[in-house]
Amino acid sequence: MTGYETIIYEKKNKIVVVTLNRPRVLNIYNLRMRDELYEVLGAVKEDREIRVVILKGAGEKAFCAGADLSEFLSAPSPTGARRSRWLRDVWGRFLSVPQPVIAALHGYVLGSGIEMSLCCDIRIATEDAQFGLPEMALGIISAAGATQTGPRAIGPGRALDLLLTGRRINAQEALQMKLINRIVPRERLFPEAESLAYKIAGWDQRTVQAIKQAVSRGLDLPLEEGLKLESRLASS
Ligand code: COA
Repeated sequence: MTGYETIIYEKKNKIVVVTLNRPRVLNIYNLRMRDELYEVLGAVKEDREIRVVILKGAGEKAFCAGADLSEFLSAPSPTGARRSRWLRDVWGRFLSVPQPVIAALHGYVLGSGIEMSLCCDIRIATEDAQFGLPEMALGIISAAGATQTGPRAIGPGRALDLLLTGRRINAQEALQMKLINRIVPRERLFPEAESLAYKIAGWDQRTVQAIKQAVSRGLDLPLEEGLKLESRLASS
C-alpha cells in the first residue's frame, strides 16, 4: 500500500511496519493520519498473511507528541473539533486488530501518542522516551481511550496520576508503572521490535490470536466468564 501522506506502510515476510511519518512536527496525530491509520488497520485485519504489526515513529525526536492542536483545538469549538476525531473510530479499530501489535517508542510519547501505544499489545521504549498526558492543562479529557485503556494497563491510581497531573515521566518510571514492557538502547529499538515480531510470527497463528483474544476480551469479563472464554478458545 502506498500513497499515504502521514504514515508509511511496509509489509515484508508476514510482518507489517506502520511508521507515523510527520517528523517535522513530532509525528502529531491529525485528521489525515486518523483516516490513513483507519484504512491501514482495516487492511491489516483482513490480511491473513500478516502475523504481527509494529508501530513506530519517524525521525529522531518523537514517537508522537499528541494530537495536532492546530486541527483538534481550533474553531469552531474545541468540542466540535474533538467530535470530528470520532467520525472514524480509529481507536476501536486498533483494539479490534486480531494480530499482536508492538509499539516501538522513542522520544516524546505524549497525549494521543501514549493512547495509541496503549492500544498496542507490547510496548518497547528507548532510554530517552518521555511520557505524559498533557490534555488536562488544555482543559480537555484524554479521549483517545486513555481513561479506559490506561487503568486496564497500569491500574486506576497510576492512570489517574498521569491523567490528572499531566506530569511527564521518563522511561524508568514508565517501566516501574508497567506502562511499558521493556527499555532498550536507542539503536536497539527497531531490531528488538523486529526480533520480537518474528518470534511471535513463527508460532501457530490461531494460538497466538486466541491468546490475544483471551487476554484482551477477558479483561472486561468477570473471572468465571473469562475462564469460560479461555476454555472455548482452547477447544476451538
Ligand atoms: N500540535 C501542533 N503542533 C505541534 C504539536 C502539537 N501537539 N507538538 C509539536 N508541534 C509542532 C511545533 O509547533 C513545532 O512546529 P514549528 O517548527 O512549525 O514551530 C514542531 O512541532 C516541533 O516542535 P517544538 O515545540 O519546536 O519541539 P521542542 O523539542 O521544542 O518541544 C514538545 C517538544 C513536545 C515539548 C512541544 O512541542 C510540546 O509541548 N508540544 C505539545 C504537546 C502536547 O500538548 N500534546 C498533546 C496535545 S492533546
